[in-house]
Amino acid sequence: MSVALNLTVVAGTNRIGSRTLRVAHRLLERYASIEGVSASLLDLQDLPLELAAPSAYDEKPPAFKVFADAVLASDGLHVVSPEYNGGMPGILKLFIDHLPFPESFEQRPVAFTGVAAGRFGALRPVEQLQGVFGYRNAHIYPERVFIAGAARLLNDQGEPVDDWLRARFDSQVTGFVDFVGRLKA
Ligand SMILES: Cc1cc2nc3c(=O)[nH]c(=O)nc-3n(C[C@H](O)[C@H](O)[C@H](O)COP(=O)(O)O)c2cc1C
Repeated sequence: MSVALNLTVVAGTNRIGSRTLRVAHRLLERYASIEGVSASLLDLQDLPLELAAPSAYDEKPPAFKVFADAVLASDGLHVVSPEYNGGMPGILKLFIDHLPFPESFEQRPVAFTGVAAGRFGALRPVEQLQGVFGYRNAHIYPERVFIAGAARLLNDQGEPVDDWLRARFDSQVTGFVDFVGRLKA
C-alpha cells in the first residue's frame, strides 16, 4: 500500500468484561498486522464520568479531548457495538453526541461490527449506527459483521472459534483498509 493509514477502533460499551472490547482488540491486531496501517483503540471505559453531567454540552471535560482528537486524526473508524435492549448502548450514543460537529464524521470512512448474545447479532444497533453516521455524511463501508450468539462463536479472548466467522473478520478488515486507502489516495 502506498498511503499510510491511521485507523481507530471504537469499543462501543463501557461494561466491565465486555465481549465487544475483546472483539475490538482482535480487530486491532488484524489492522496492526497490515503494512502501512497503524491502529489504536478507543475504549469507552476510559471516558470521563463527567461526560454525563448536564454541563458537559457547554464545557467538555478535559479528559475527553484525547477521544475527540483520536477521532479527528483517524483516516477511518471501525465501531464495534453490542446490542443492549435492541439498540446501541447509551454510552456509545453519548460519546457520539459529544464529538465535535460536523468534522468528526463528515466524509470519514466507517465500518461496523455487531456483537450480541441473541440471534440477530446486533443488526439493530448496527443499523441505528448506519443511520446516525449516514446522517452525519460518513462514508459507510458496506461489509458489516454480525456476531450472533457471541458466547458460542467467540473464545474468551474474543477470537472467532469457527473458520467462517474468522474469514468474515479478515475480509472486513482487509476490505476496509482498501476502502479507506482508495478514499484517501
Ligand atoms: C444492558 C444490556 C442489555 C442487553 N440487551 C440485549 C439485547 O437486546 N439483545 C441481545 O441479543 N443481547 C443483549 N444483551 C447481551 C449482550 O448482547 C451481550 O452481553 C454481548 O456479549 C455483547 O455485549 P458486551 O460487549 O457487553 O459483552 C444485553 C446486555 C446488557 C448488559
